[in-house]
Amino acid sequence: MSLFQLIRGSKEEKKWLQYAGEMDVIIDIEDDSIQTKMDMMNFTENDLKVIKSIQPIVREHIDQLVEEFYSTILRVEHLKEMIEKYSTVDRLRETLKVHFIELFSGKIDQSFVGKRFRVAKTHYRIGLEPAWYMGAFQNVQNSLLSIVCNKVSNKEEIQTILSVVNKILSFEQQIVLE
Ligand code: HEM
Repeated sequence: MSLFQLIRGSKEEKKWLQYAGEMDVIIDIEDDSIQTKMDMMNFTENDLKVIKSIQPIVREHIDQLVEEFYSTILRVEHLKEMIEKYSTVDRLRETLKVHFIELFSGKIDQSFVGKRFRVAKTHYRIGLEPAWYMGAFQNVQNSLLSIVCNKVSNKEEIQTILSVVNKILSFEQQIVLE
């Protein structure tokens, strides 16, 4: 992005988040340690509304997101072997698409938490070390960053959105790595 585009972008109308406040979201957590994690990051209902408001962008670019995810992990030979041993790229691609679209659904309840515990168990069973899992997340974060920056032009909106995207990605990793 050129400097000119950046400056012009900063003056563009705020439009993306104007309806975020109207989003229906649910936070319904029984597990104290999970609630404490949310409190620690100051992860609020308003944040979740922002998350839900960008679900259409994530859905629109889900193929790109998942492709970028795989292109990086398939370059690591032993991760490639792990996928081939326990699953297939096609199967995991579909699993990941559903997983990331759901992450932006605006619903954090016991079922959300339960699914993350299951991811943890599955990764433990196949011997995936946390460092690789976290590395994969870094690529997901980068992809989301470029997807949001391409779609949203107002600088303040970009900042708000990326800040809550970082929160939910961190929250997800905290639950899975607990
Ligand atoms: C399974 C998410 C990183 C390999 C899964 C499942 C999810 C998931 C949702 C299905 C769990 C279940 O219901 O049992 C993620 C996310 C990652 C990540 C969000 C990071 C952004 C990785 C990496 C590998 C990997 C780096 C590298 C090998 C696998 C395999 C399975 C699996 C092989 C399927 C095992 C089976 O079907 O038995 N993952 N994963 N994942 N993941 Fe990951």
